[in-house]
Amino acid sequence: MQRRDFLKNLGVAAGSVAVYQNSFSIPAYASGPAQKVRFGMISDLHHLQFGQEEVKRLGGFMDDVVKTHPNFIIQCGDFCRHTRSEGIMEQWNRYKGPKYHVLGNHDMDYCSKETIMQFWGMPKRYYSFDQNGFHFVAMDRNFLKEDDGRLTHYDTSNWGKLGSPKRSFTDQEQLDWLRDDLLKAHSPVIVFMHQPVFLSDFHDELGNADEILKIFDDVNFNAAQNKSPAKVAAVFMGHDHDDRYGQRNGVHYFIVNSATYVYTKGGAYYYKDPLYAFVTLETSGKLTIEGRSTIYSPAAPEAVASRFPTKIGDHDIKL
Ligand SMILES: [Fe+2]
Repeated sequence: MQRRDFLKNLGVAAGSVAVYQNSFSIPAYASGPAQKVRFGMISDLHHLQFGQEEVKRLGGFMDDVVKTHPNFIIQCGDFCRHTRSEGIMEQWNRYKGPKYHVLGNHDMDYCSKETIMQFWGMPKRYYSFDQNGFHFVAMDRNFLKEDDGRLTHYDTSNWGKLGSPKRSFTDQEQLDWLRDDLLKAHSPVIVFMHQPVFLSDFHDELGNADEILKIFDDVNFNAAQNKSPAKVAAVFMGHDHDDRYGQRNGVHYFIVNSATYVYTKGGAYYYKDPLYAFVTLETSGKLTIEGRSTIYSPAAPEAVASRFPTKIGDHDIKL
């Protein structure tokens, strides 16, 4: 039996609980010379969502990017449309360094995944890459579950016809790829996705998040057993327009606030300045987030302002 199969079969065998606890406490670090990667991250720009142009808002992020030259930039979904968004792409392309995209549900409000991906110049709907001692993964959570159980790609707002429990699914092909990709990784893993798998208040709109969390658990158990640094260290998620941080089984999860607004039952309340963050990862096992903060403009009602922060929080975390 292969070692990996043995670990898979070990499952919930007696005594495995204690082993799991140990595996979740292993640090994420990379061997070899000390390396550092710094990236810029923006999420949920929602260009034109309520008819409002967000070219200037994206420009605020890009000014900082061009000035500080991060190793790469990434947008975490709900970015823009495939039409009337030339100004957005003009801003985005001001940076000549590596640029990455994550598909969000609203990116398929008016078109298919293929169309928006082509507009952005995004080669694959899910993918991974290595940079400066870390392994990065971008996922596509945009499938709806039809009444007969089949998963269908989000396409031109087709998920709107089904209730929340039928949304935010991830296809089996991608789950198989994810497990395989993570088990083959040689360095700590950072994951990006649009819809959260953890920390969200929208409990009935998590799709098959449990299958993704199980993969993260299995991969980290395997890493601990093999004394490998290639554990899932942190996960960045968008969609909820909130600022949250929490840990689950040794993995650090972040809900990254929208660049633009919070959406409540009373409607959208816009942020004065763009929210975005720069994240620095060090192979010694350190994650630092420098987030931006602003105010509501126009002012939001007290109940909204006290509940929803107009910031992306700063963090200094040992991985
Ligand atoms: Fe979204």
